[in-house]
Amino acid sequence: MTKKILILPGDYIGTEVLAEAVKVLEVLKAGGEKIAWTFGHLGGAAYDAEGHPYPPSTQKAAREADAILLGAVGGPKYDEVPRELRPERGLLAIRKDLGLFANLRPARVFEELADASPLKKELISNLDILILRELTGDIYFGQPRGRRKTAEGHDEGFDTMHYSRPEVERIARVAFEAARKRSRKLCSVDKENVLDTSRFWREVVIEVSKDYPDVELSHMYVDNAAMQLVRRPKQFDVIVTGNIFGDILSDEASMLGGSIGMLPSASLDVNNKGMYEPIHGSAPDIAGQNKANPLATILSVAMMFKYSFDNAAVSDRIEAAVKKVLQQGHRTGDIASSGDKVIGTREMGDAVVAVLRA
Ligand code: NAI
Ligand code: MG
Repeated sequence: MTKKILILPGDYIGTEVLAEAVKVLEVLKAGGEKIAWTFGHLGGAAYDAEGHPYPPSTQKAAREADAILLGAVGGPKYDEVPRELRPERGLLAIRKDLGLFANLRPARVFEELADASPLKKELISNLDILILRELTGDIYFGQPRGRRKTAEGHDEGFDTMHYSRPEVERIARVAFEAARKRSRKLCSVDKENVLDTSRFWREVVIEVSKDYPDVELSHMYVDNAAMQLVRRPKQFDVIVTGNIFGDILSDEASMLGGSIGMLPSASLDVNNKGMYEPIHGSAPDIAGQNKANPLATILSVAMMFKYSFDNAAVSDRIEAAVKKVLQQGHRTGDIASSGDKVIGTREMGDAVVAVLRA
């Protein structure tokens, strides 16, 4: 069966990095992969074309697709747009509409780029960890929330943290499956010593672990995890955690390598249908100048093959091609050191394509 990909370039550099990812898809298709793709609008581009950041046409196409490849949305052009029509609303709407509850954020540091890290080279060279963040529950969505008066008559703000058994079970399963595709080590991060939600989370993760006896499960408090991520990041392979802890830890982990232009991400639903996107934004400051690094988007294509198309071979091929172009010395501005020759977005895409064709 041909896999249907919906491509949503979005705004500013979104279109530029997506154009390079499409070149990669073209090579794969020419090589016999059964894939087909169509283009749609999301974010500001959708607002411009259809008056809404997540218009019905995109909604229909997104529901029909097997996977979605997204650039990035937003930017100063949309600063004056009413709040509910802002580009970011399109992103939240599509995640919610498709039930994309599992956010996978690899933090990977290619040896060739280890100098760009704020950490010592030996700590992060060849680092390859995967943070799995639950994306649709937790204190970000918990009710009740709002403002009220305390017993003493003071004003206060409050939120509610909770996780239901199905919510924890499904993210835990994605995590164990992901660990199976990697080195079979899973660390669940919580705050079990203080929070009832975390005590429950841990209990359910342990129950689910009985179905995965081949995966080694450990637990860590979130404050310790934050410390260990900078102290000795290579001790981790897959980390699974709730929405708020994952928000913070995944941002922390993404900076271990020091280069925002290299990191892909995936957001999956219960059937591993997914939306794949670079973690960076639309970078208006460099848009239209052929400066953006397309590798995060190309690595997002690799994740798409691995998680949505169950095709590790193609995924590995794309990752190996990216590694190869780095070995060959190709550098966009964001990953260049002084003295490096800097190439553009299109040239980087061409370099990957050349390796894939070879
Ligand atoms: P950003 O990630 O767009 O840019 C941060 C810095 O990194 C900028 O200096 C930019 O030039 C650089 N950069 C980002 N991607 C790069 C790449 N591929 N190659 C080389 N350099 C790169 O974050 P910023 O500036 O905070 O946000 C810009 C716009 O993007 C805002 O409208 C924001 O709301 C939106 N945004 C969208 C996201 C998404 O669509 N998922 C995520 C984050 C921000
Ligand atoms: Mg964040």
